Order: sequence, then structure tokens, then C-alpha cells
Amino acid sequence: METKTVGILGAGTMGHGIAQVLIRSGYTVFLHDLSQQFLDSGAGRIAKGLNRDVEKNRLTDEEREKALSRLTTTTRVADLAAADFIVEAVTENLEVKAGAFRAIEPHCGQGVIFASNTSSISITRLAAATERPDRFIGLHFFNPVPVMKLVEIVPGLATSQETLEAAERLATSAGKTPVRVNDYPGFISNRLLMPMINEAVYCLMESVADAKGIDNVMKLGMNHPMGPLELADLIGLDVCLDIMKVLYESFRDSKYRPCPLLEKMVNAGRLGRKTGRGFYEYPGASGRC
Ligand code: CAA
Repeated sequence: METKTVGILGAGTMGHGIAQVLIRSGYTVFLHDLSQQFLDSGAGRIAKGLNRDVEKNRLTDEEREKALSRLTTTTRVADLAAADFIVEAVTENLEVKAGAFRAIEPHCGQGVIFASNTSSISITRLAAATERPDRFIGLHFFNPVPVMKLVEIVPGLATSQETLEAAERLATSAGKTPVRVNDYPGFISNRLLMPMINEAVYCLMESVADAKGIDNVMKLGMNHPMGPLELADLIGLDVCLDIMKVLYESFRDSKYRPCPLLEKMVNAGRLGRKTGRGFYEYPGASGRC
């Protein structure tokens, strides 16, 4: 079945970015969140992103208006009944995500595919919380969504070939490059990225260098666009810690133990850009991811 209308759960950093990319690619999108305030913030960020495309001559005024006309924001899950593909991008927590799928499932037809943008939770486990494990898949986008080319496509144990192909088509038609990755903790991206970030926090904790020094080593020596600590601030230190915990608890291997300084930063509410302070300071932050 061809996907035309996508329902997105969560208008935060990832949800609004996915919505922006999809409306720009011709999809009709219903963006859901719990409060109108979250939706207004997400819609504002989408409009800003599309305005930037117009300024840069990547989009005409008319195309921007058409794209925006394909976006509907709503606080009512029942409105997502119009969608033939659902992408969930809510808080990175098994119970919250499973709850979101359970809330929407009675409103969705049999053929509707459910996808989770989880960065580390087992797709097989999330799929088992729904009535459609064969029509359930991981669709892992990267931040900032409009810029990053990759989407990890993660089939669970019961995911059908048809679902896999539909997810790959959606990612490709949104201008992304899908890479198929089997359902193991952290997939590929976070199994490699998070231990690097965690080790950078250990280096900071042990005063091997200051934050700028650590980041400069990776930027100037390895050509990374951002240093690991800057990147942790972009991703959110709470998200980094949650992913390290998933890796540690899933593999039961001490090499994945979260750095105590990372835990301390999260406990202090220094979550990175979204709270205005992480390893660096960000005046004027919005306070929401
Ligand atoms: N939203 C939308 N667009 C953004 C953006 C944002 N938050 N930040 C930057 N951009 C755009 C800019 O507008 C600019 O686009 P144009 O000039 O073409 O309009 C372009 O990206 C380049 O930005 P800048 O020139 O300001 O800065 P830069 O060259 O340093 O690039 C960056 C910024 C793209 C973020 C780059 O530093 C980068 O690629 N960093 C690494 C990001 C990364 O690793 N992301 C993955 C995180 S892991 C994850 O998301 C998944 C997970 O599970 C945790």
C-alpha cells in the first residue's frame, strides 16, 4: 500500500524535524502532541526551517505554502485515524512509547504501519506491546533531521518484508538514505556513538583536558563536525544517559557503564542545549527538546 498520510506522535526535536521533511516531500502529516503549546512550538520550528529553505533558494514561496498546508497539528489521537503510517517520536522510555502506541491503536486500520524513532529500545519488545508486530518497525532519524541523511531501518523479529519495504520507501522518498540494521541494543549508530561520548565525559571527569580541548581533538584530529561533548549537548545528556543504560543493562558488559559525571549532569538538570546548559552554556534556550 502506498503511504500518503503520516501521523507523527510527538512534536519535539525529532518529531517536528520528521514532520518538516515529510511535508516537504509531499506527504500529508498529522502531528500529535499532548498540549497545544508543544504543537505550536513544533509548528513554529517547522515554519522557521522552511523559511530558511526559501531564503537559501531551495524552496519557492509557493512550495513552502503548499508544504505547510499539508500539516495539521492536533492534541486528539483520534485525528490520526486518517494516517496510513504512524511514526512515534515521544520520550525515550519503553512505557511511554508503548503507551502511545496502545492509545492510538484502536483508531488505526489493520493495514497501518507503526514505526518507532527510538534510538535504543528493542523494536521487538515495542512491537510486542501492539496488536501488529508484523506491521511494526524501527525508523531511526538523526538530529538535525532536515540535515542528516541517514535513517536506520530496524526490523523486529516479527516485522514483515512488506513493512520493511514500505519503511524503506518512506525514508527514500523523504530524501534520506536507509540503512538496514538488525534489532540489537543501540543498533549500529548508538552502539558506536554513545561509548565515544561516554568516554569523552570520563576524560573530562578525570581532567585529561577541558571540554573545549576534548572536542577540538576530535574535530581537528578526526575531522568530526562536532566534538563529542558538543554533540552530547545537541542530543541531550538525558538521552545519552538513557542510551548508555540500555547498552549496559542489555549487554551486561562493564564497558558500557555510564560515566558518573554524565549522571551528575543529568541529576543537576544540565541536559544540554534544550535546558540552556550542558557541557557548554546556551543563552536563550527554549527548555524543550
Ligand atoms: N535544525 C535544522 N537545520 C540545522 C540545524 C538544526 N538544529 N543546525 C544546523 N542546521 C543546518 C544549518 O541551517 C545549515 O544549513 P544551510 O546553511 O544549508 O541552510 C547547515 O545545517 C549547516 O549548519 P551550520 O553552517 O550552522 O553549522 P555546521 O556546518 O557546523 O553544521 C551540523 C551543523 C549539521 C549540526 C554539524 O555540526 C553536524 O553534522 N554535526 C553532527 C550532528 C550529528 O552527529 N547528529 C547525530 C546525532 S545522534 C542522533 O541524532 C540520534 C540518536 O539516536 C542520539
